[in-house]
Amino acid sequence: MALFLRKHTGTPFKHAQVLSRSFAVRGVEMPSTDFQPAEFKGMPYDEARAAHAKNLFPHVSERMLLYKRPVYLTQGHMQWLWDSEGKRYLDLFAGIATCGVGHCHPKITESIQDQASKLVHCSNLYINAKQAEYAEKLLTKLPEKYNRVYFVNSGSEANDFAMTMMRVYTGSWDIIGLRNAYHGASPTTLGITNMGQYKFPTPQNFGCHTIPNPDVYKGIWGGKNCRDSPVQADRDCDCAEGVCEATDLYLGQLEDVLTNVTPPKVAGFFGEPIQGVGGSVQYPRDFLQKTYKKIHARGGLCVADEVQTGFGRTGSHYWGFQGAGLNPDIIVCAKTIANGLPMACVITTKEIADSMNVALPFNTYSSNPVSCAAAITALDVIDEEGLQENCQRVGTYCLEELSKIRDDYEIVGDVRGKGLMIGIEMVADKKTRAPLQPERVGDIIERTKDYGVLFGKGGRFGQVLRIKPPMNVTKEDIDFGLAVLRQSIEEHLAQ
Ligand SMILES: Cc1ncc(COP(=O)(O)O)c(C=O)c1O
Repeated sequence: MALFLRKHTGTPFKHAQVLSRSFAVRGVEMPSTDFQPAEFKGMPYDEARAAHAKNLFPHVSERMLLYKRPVYLTQGHMQWLWDSEGKRYLDLFAGIATCGVGHCHPKITESIQDQASKLVHCSNLYINAKQAEYAEKLLTKLPEKYNRVYFVNSGSEANDFAMTMMRVYTGSWDIIGLRNAYHGASPTTLGITNMGQYKFPTPQNFGCHTIPNPDVYKGIWGGKNCRDSPVQADRDCDCAEGVCEATDLYLGQLEDVLTNVTPPKVAGFFGEPIQGVGGSVQYPRDFLQKTYKKIHARGGLCVADEVQTGFGRTGSHYWGFQGAGLNPDIIVCAKTIANGLPMACVITTKEIADSMNVALPFNTYSSNPVSCAAAITALDVIDEEGLQENCQRVGTYCLEELSKIRDDYEIVGDVRGKGLMIGIEMVADKKTRAPLQPERVGDIIERTKDYGVLFGKGGRFGQVLRIKPPMNVTKEDIDFGLAVLRQSIEEHLAQ
């Protein structure tokens, strides 16, 4: 096996070597693929890395790249990625939960190519066939009351739009969000993105308020019965089976803000059914339902940010809000929507959408025909390939296997999630639950990457490993990914 592993600073793999031989980690073979990537003839690794360092903003070239020896991706096919030297990776992060139906899914590529040869740009000044078709098709995936959709280019832009709409419709200003939430990086969404590393020293959209994150593993309250997940937090509590006192305690914090911080009427509440960037954090089971009730009683609207949880990823339901038993007023989608092309949307009722007529919202690239073509095919593929069911089956298996890893290592504190929306919280020790130091998490994921498996990172301190792969991954892929994780943790602990 040593033959196939690149040391952190050592010689790269050779293309043929990687394609022609398989290898195993802890007795588990890396699953094979029939797909043959094209030989990469672009800028070589060192040259690309130098150009990246010289020309891009320092926050990109110095702080964002995930690995000490960064990965230079050149091709993708379904759950597989290849780098410039031909090394193959199992992608357990799907380009930040974005290539949900698989990298360069052949059907989506065909739709893009077909549309790109006909009409690439249109704008909302005209009708385009793909926009009309997609809007119609997307709304069939939702309860009937949702009958209006507006297209934009990114999740941040969609959330900006949703925040404006909440305020315009209600005539109120105050929006409440959760700490540890990520809803985008625009100046407006930074008011409800409550993770310190994303905050600039600029005015943070006044009128945005936060409540403590109802994180049942690390938050003030929580216990062993709280989550809608196959794996519960390893945390004692006195609640009887099926009861969760943490829900009411966290709701008390919301009540306090509504009583002491906001005016009697509010614009609303913004939240993800399961936090994504925050590290797949799940709240106590009824927390969101009860929150929605309180907000509605104050005249506010509730937004479900489905940017990561939508399109079947959580397994039990097509949308995260359905799994949490919610009735949101506004739904925001992005990421998997067009399987990697820039696109997002805001969905609501006609009554709420009508409120935006007081001005004329405009986006040049809204309803881009190529993105809409990809989005139509993504909906088809999710159904045809049973991807929601696969998320439920493979995700549950993955969570159950991960719970064994948690039990075996002091530095694996929590395993949580639903479907293929999974977080693994790495800790200094199980007693304090303090985040494992960034260099240590970095060392572990450098090793997993060297073994050919890409995990994501999340959480306020980058302490959560995230598994949000293309939704077609198999149990065999998960077996390999988890063998690599185990091996990397053991090597890290042994050094
Ligand atoms: C839940 C959620 N909302 C909004 C966004 C912002 O999306 P974008 O990066 O497309 O602006 C993200 C991005 O990660 C997200 O995870």
